[in-house]
This record gives sequence, structure tokens and C-alpha cells, in this order.
Amino acid sequence: ASTTAIPGYTYGTAQVTPSPLSDADFALLKQTVLLGDADLHHLRLAGEVLGDQVEAVLDVWYGFVGGHPHLVKYFSGADGQPSPAYLGAVRRRFGQWIQDTCAAQYDRAWLDYQYEIGLRHTSARKNLTDGIVSPSQHIHLRYLIAFIVPITATIKPFLAKKGHTAAEVDAMHAAWFKSVTLQVTLWSMPYLAPSTF
Ligand code: HEM
Repeated sequence: ASTTAIPGYTYGTAQVTPSPLSDADFALLKQTVLLGDADLHHLRLAGEVLGDQVEAVLDVWYGFVGGHPHLVKYFSGADGQPSPAYLGAVRRRFGQWIQDTCAAQYDRAWLDYQYEIGLRHTSARKNLTDGIVSPSQHIHLRYLIAFIVPITATIKPFLAKKGHTAAEVDAMHAAWFKSVTLQVTLWSMPYLAPSTF
């Protein structure tokens, strides 16, 4: 994941603000969510399984957000209504994120982009990437955290769709859950005073 044609997608570029987290603290966090080499293997497998299902996964997630006024309001445009341009721009990066989550080396470049994604959910960067004028200036951290559940629950049927054993599906699903939890934890960083993170 470095150069692509997706507008606003800057993973691996010099535009990304480095994460303030040290390598040592990052390693301890990975240990704490029990993310190990076997999980990276199962995430690669998940990447193969999800490869041609990304749009279908996004349909489910966008359906979930769109079906809840308290969530879709974060995608409001200047008129206070859900902005198709905003939803569409973010959707392309969200699709790339599914693939990155499966393919990542969980290295410094990946860590730095997690800081960027975190910032984009806060008032520091929200709306800027897509040039959106919105009454919504940040996404409340409580929903970021709570969203781990639907993002994890809804992926399982897709992981099970390519004929893998129940044990393989469970292993892919567990690795996905660890990664999403790790990511939302990292995204919470710019919301918090550094000493409390
Ligand atoms: C942006 C994932 C929670 C609303 C993004 C992006 C991803 C993502 C991958 C694009 C990152 C990029 O620019 O490359 C997630 C995940 C979540 C989560 C995995 C929780 C597990 C939420 C929640 C909301 C939300 C609860 C509220 C409805 C948004 C918005 C943007 C965005 C509005 C665009 C921010 C901007 O203006 O740049 N999210 N998100 N996200 N997400 Fe989330």
C-alpha cells in the first residue's frame, strides 16, 4: 500500500504525520491484543477471501451507518443532509482499509497511518481530506469504540463464504477482531492527553 489513485489515501507517503507512539510501546500494545505472526497469516488468508467481496462488505457497513441517523449525521454536508460526495470519497478509502488490514506488516508505516486515520476522525483533520463543509467536526470516541462490534460481527459471514473450515474461519475472525481493536485503540490517541493514552 503506497501509491494508488484513491483521493486522500496517503498511506506510506511523506504526508502522513508520524505516530508519537514509540516502537517499544507499539510492540507492547500488539502483545496486549495477542496479535502474533499466526494472526498475520490468517489476516493474509482473510485478504484472499475478502478480495472480491469488498464492495458487498461496504454495502453492509454503509447500510448500517445509513440506517442510524445518529451515525450518518457524521457524514453531513453543508446542508446538514448526508453528503453523497463525502460518503463516496470515504468509501473508497474504507475499501482500501479492508485490504490494508489484511495485508499490513504492522510496522512503522502502518502505525503512522493509524495516527493519520485517528486524526481524520477528530476535529484536527475531519472533513479536510475531501474538502467537505460539514456541521460535524469530529466523531465521538464512544462510537469509534462501539463500532468495533458491528465491524467485527458483520465480517464473519463473508469470511465463511469461500469454503474454509470452521476452525479457519474462526482464526481469521479472531485475527480480524484483534486488528480492529488494535486500530481503534491507536485511533483514540489524538483524542486523549498524551499522558493518559
Ligand atoms: C473515515 C474506518 C468508526 C465516520 C474512515 C476511514 C476508515 C474508517 C478506514 C478512512 C481512512 C482514510 O482516510 O484513509 C472506521 C472503523 C471504525 C470507524 C474501522 C470503527 C471500528 C467510525 C464511526 C463513524 C465514522 C463510528 C461515525 C459514523 C467516519 C467519517 C470518516 C471516516 C465521517 C471521514 C473522515 C474525514 O473527514 O476524513 N473511517 N471508522 N467512523 N469515518 Fe470511520
